[in-house]
Amino acid sequence: MRFLSYPCLIATLITSNILQEVSAQTPPGFQPVTLNHLGVSYTAVAISPAGITVPRDDVTNAPSLSLTESNVTFVAIMMDFSVNITGSAASNMTLLHWILPGLSSLNETTTLSSSQRVIAPYYPPGPPAGQTHTYGIFLYKQPADFAIPANYISYFNNLTASIVNRIGFNQTTFALEAGLGTPVAANWFLVSTPIITTSSIMASTFGSNGIIPTTTMSVTGTNTSMGSSFTASIGATATQSIISGAKKVGIESIAVAINTLWLVEIFL
Ligand SMILES: *[C@@H]1O[C@H](CO)[C@@H](O)[C@H](O)[C@H]1NC(C)=O
Ligand SMILES: *[C@@H]1O[C@H](CO)[C@@H](O)[C@H](O)[C@H]1NC(C)=O
Ligand SMILES: *[C@@H]1O[C@H](CO)[C@@H](O)[C@H](O)[C@H]1NC(C)=O
Ligand SMILES: *[C@@H]1O[C@H](CO)[C@@H](O)[C@H](O)[C@H]1NC(C)=O
Ligand SMILES: *[C@@H]1O[C@H](CO)[C@@H](O)[C@H](O)[C@H]1NC(C)=O
Ligand SMILES: *[C@@H]1O[C@H](CO)[C@@H](O)[C@H](O)[C@H]1NC(C)=O
Ligand SMILES: *[C@@H]1O[C@H](CO)[C@@H](O)[C@H](O)[C@H]1NC(C)=O
Repeated sequence: MRFLSYPCLIATLITSNILQEVSAQTPPGFQPVTLNHLGVSYTAVAISPAGITVPRDDVTNAPSLSLTESNVTFVAIMMDFSVNITGSAASNMTLLHWILPGLSSLNETTTLSSSQRVIAPYYPPGPPAGQTHTYGIFLYKQPADFAIPANYISYFNNLTASIVNRIGFNQTTFALEAGLGTPVAANWFLVSTPIITTSSIMASTFGSNGIIPTTTMSVTGTNTSMGSSFTASIGATATQSIISGAKKVGIESIAVAINTLWLVEIFL
């Protein structure tokens, strides 16, 4: 075992700190790049360094954000950059996950809090099976006269009517119209959902499962991340058309009963 001397240890810490500060904190391909690291902490995991892969279950609720800059009010925007709608490799669209204005640190702490109304309620990441999505969180300085641009008011009022409404949100245009300028800090992470392969599909009848279907498809397969078999039943003829629709347009949710447990697979 080799011991590091104090100067060596300090040098190592300084180097890793500098490395974190000089690399892009925005997702690959995102313009403009910022080198400022935005602290993003979920209850179970902190996004540090930027770009780590985190379990879907750890990002269910909105994170707390932090930045070492006081007396400034910020707007946070979270996006998915990997929405796959047509099923072609070329299609990665955006999906708006969160907009929270009024973030500031009330005292000397670096944690940001807000008492302003959320503009886009936090929607948890949930890539479809077999996909890995890139999520970015950006912090913009909030102008003193900040307001939701007039042409976005009805959009945000109706945002939660359907997940579809969040797809294709243009962050650049919104930031421009709201006078937010460029991001002052950012962070990003990946979420993967394991592939669940289906090995047989057959028609059967399913009992009381919440959907109360008349006809169901029973799907037997292997959860590759578990290495074990499972049997799931997907409810009703109507749901089958949602499934084929979902494969085409990638927007609806599929409710799958696994014994009595529900797996809701949402296409984003
Ligand atoms: C914080 O900013 C406000 C408005 O710009 C200013 O009036 C105030 O003096 C600042 N406070 C501190 C502690 O810098
Ligand atoms: C977008 O799709 C391309 C493949 O067409 C892929 O290389 C790239 O990583 C995707 N970007 C994101 C942010 O998922
Ligand atoms: C979109 O999904 C298809 C399969 O459904 C996959 O082959 C393709 O790589 C995906 N594209 C992206 C950018 O993830
Ligand atoms: C700073 O503000 C936060 C949020 O209101 C609070 O939890 C924390 O205790 C405060 N810290 C100090 C040192 O006042
Ligand atoms: C609200 O969203 C729903 C679902 O996307 C859509 O059908 C409806 O037309 C929207 N309403 C308005 C007023 O935009
Ligand atoms: C946002 O809109 C601008 C201006 O129309 C366009 O150049 C850009 O490609 C759009 N970005 C996305 C992600 O759609
Ligand atoms: C597949 O396995 C993973 C890891 O054990 C688990 O988190 C997930 O819920 C499983 N999915 C199904 C459909 O059983």
